[in-house]
Amino acid sequence: MLGTQWGDEGKGKAVDYLADRMDFVVRYQGGNNAGHTVVAQGRVLKLHLIPSGILYPHITSVIADGLVVDPRVLLEEMDTLTELGIDVSRLAVSGNAHLIMPYHLELEKVTERFLGKNALGTTKRGIGPAYADKAARIGLRVQDLFDPGIFREKLDVVLKEKNLVLTKVYNRLPLAPERIVEDYLGYAERLRPHVADTSKLLDDGLRAGKNVLLEGAQGTLLDLDKGTYPFVTSSNPVAGYALASAGVGPKEVDRVIGIAKAYVTRVGAGPFPTEEHGPDGDRLAERGQEFGTTTGRKRRCGWFDAVILRYAARVNGLTELFLTKLDVLSGSETVKVCTAYRAEGETFEDFPPHQSLFHRAEPFYEELEGWRDELDGARSFDDLPAAARAYVRRLGELADVPISVVSVGPAREQSLPVP
Ligand code: IMP
Repeated sequence: MLGTQWGDEGKGKAVDYLADRMDFVVRYQGGNNAGHTVVAQGRVLKLHLIPSGILYPHITSVIADGLVVDPRVLLEEMDTLTELGIDVSRLAVSGNAHLIMPYHLELEKVTERFLGKNALGTTKRGIGPAYADKAARIGLRVQDLFDPGIFREKLDVVLKEKNLVLTKVYNRLPLAPERIVEDYLGYAERLRPHVADTSKLLDDGLRAGKNVLLEGAQGTLLDLDKGTYPFVTSSNPVAGYALASAGVGPKEVDRVIGIAKAYVTRVGAGPFPTEEHGPDGDRLAERGQEFGTTTGRKRRCGWFDAVILRYAARVNGLTELFLTKLDVLSGSETVKVCTAYRAEGETFEDFPPHQSLFHRAEPFYEELEGWRDELDGARSFDDLPAAARAYVRRLGELADVPISVVSVGPAREQSLPVP
């Protein structure tokens, strides 16, 4: 299950909808740059790292190899959940996941500042620097926490270079290794019971006939390879990566579920052809409560983009779609859907192959009839006004992927199966 846009499609809702039938929920990329708001014991809770599967006593939640884990944040989330009476003993963390280190946070702060007007607008959680070190093979992993000698040795090697960059390039103070060792080895003791061979755990589960949900964070257009590079995150939300990260083979996959919001939002910098700067955009932001879970930033908003949906369907091999927040569109005379782009005198029905074309893309809109009624009271697809049903059918047609569920509000009974 993954996002088909720039993240924030409402993936948490889809997990909730599917949870009853799942035995494992696995996060496969990213770190605490993600965020989902959940309501637990009457309290609104923001989870950034732990999969929301943790709220269900029958589900084992897994943090797979492909994540970058800030252990301080992980323990904080575990503590908050425990305080609320939620059992976190079923959380399994891969020893192969990489650690976000204090110098990653420090370096991201200064490099984003250094980029000035070219800054990416990252979440400043150290995600990019941690993945960069992973690729450069100087990263520290969760398993290193359990061998203090190795941890210190690896840290000394990497910190020597990081401190030179911090002090000589950016004029910052160096970080002391002793402090990092003390903090991280402290975290290690608390994390120990959760660290597992998660690929084996999932394989055992699959062999026993259990259901596994692999959950992506961010979205297809923020994918390092398939997204709007360089305005992307540093990992791969696309479906293909889910298997590499979880250590599960492609034969095991039955369904690939894409989550699409009924309009589009984006946080941070980068191209966004259907962005609405005027009252339509403000209305979507306001009605959709489009403020980031992680950074609190107001999200950029715009009309639905079927070109990116078709692209997401293709690169992920989607078998179905879950359409969220349809209720937000109520009250407009017409609703617009972008079906193609125009750039440099050409028309593109497919996602343009080069970044400069996408930057210049002008949306070509199809206007559909809007609907006045609020939708949040609907309890079945047939309760929706005819124009809302037609809108949903049209999106499915444009994507050439069936829409299986439409949601019209945060509660579970507001997720309506599409007949
Ligand atoms: P990073 O993931 O912190 O490196 O940020 C890179 C880009 O991805 C920025 O534009 C962020 O706003 C965006 N981003 C990262 N995580 C999310 C998310 O969960 N939802 C929406 N955008 C995100």
